[in-house]
Amino acid sequence: MKKPAILVARAIFPQTLDFLSQHFEVESNQTDEVWDAVELTRRLNGKAGALTTGSERIDGALLQANPQLKIIANMAVGFNNFDIPAMTAAGVLATNTPDVLTDTTADFGFALLMATARRVSESEHFLRAGKWTKWRYDMFAGAEVHGSTLGIIGMGRIGQGIARRGAFGFGMKVVYHNRSQLSPQLEAECKATYVSKEVLLKTADHVVLVVPYSAESHHTIGANELGMMKSTATLVNIARGGIVDDAALAHALAGGQIAAAGLDVFEGEPVVNEALLKVPNVVLTPHIASATTKTRLAMAQLAADNLVSYFTQGRALTPVNQVAIMG
Ligand code: GLV
Repeated sequence: MKKPAILVARAIFPQTLDFLSQHFEVESNQTDEVWDAVELTRRLNGKAGALTTGSERIDGALLQANPQLKIIANMAVGFNNFDIPAMTAAGVLATNTPDVLTDTTADFGFALLMATARRVSESEHFLRAGKWTKWRYDMFAGAEVHGSTLGIIGMGRIGQGIARRGAFGFGMKVVYHNRSQLSPQLEAECKATYVSKEVLLKTADHVVLVVPYSAESHHTIGANELGMMKSTATLVNIARGGIVDDAALAHALAGGQIAAAGLDVFEGEPVVNEALLKVPNVVLTPHIASATTKTRLAMAQLAADNLVSYFTQGRALTPVNQVAIMG
């Protein structure tokens, strides 16, 4: 029987490609060009499935030009690059890669919190610039992490992982805000207390954002919210660009309205707001929260397994929409 044709839209681990090639006719992109919508649409011609990353936008126009598409497997837990209603209407199954990245991403959230609060990047730049000539009592004095109040906005699996690290590892008081309150059992497991967004912003020493991106979560943190935070507070965004109004944040950082920020994601990434690049009190990383070799391999494998499972068994492992599957 002829193998189904699939597109792997970005460079991927060679072993993942080998695995996919056992099941599919694979067109790959190991040179890792980032295709625009026209090129991606063209490359998808004749393909029944695709493995994508967050950089590929799947929308109605692309789907209309490729009515043969059956499934698109995103190598990410987030899937805001997918127009889910358009995919569902076109009968295209969408999948993501949950669970396999939870702890790795929570680790990174904590790393960014620590680096931000304790001014790791800022002080390293100072040292590398040859400016370290003597010890001084207040040199790069930052904010305390242990025993402080951690505020988490978005209490899904990754948020819960960060709460556990904060509560049990660092003796932090954990407050959270989420669309829905966790069960009393989960709250006890995470030692976390549900509060309103306003109370969280006003009382937390460190605010970590782990909320999925949607029209409702756009600019969850803007000038108004930054104005509610303590002047000594830090803000960490490992969720998605667009959750924070980056221009408003740069302004708040430059004016000392909050102490510092740690950002792994940006509005319009990989382009970063110039104003953010100019302020010293921000730690900037290029969307690497899930980037350990082990976890990225597991994400690639789960995306690949979704494709194989769909074509061999008629169901995906981690779907994010529901479509009628024709035989
Ligand atoms: C990364 O940002 C992901 O959504 O997995």
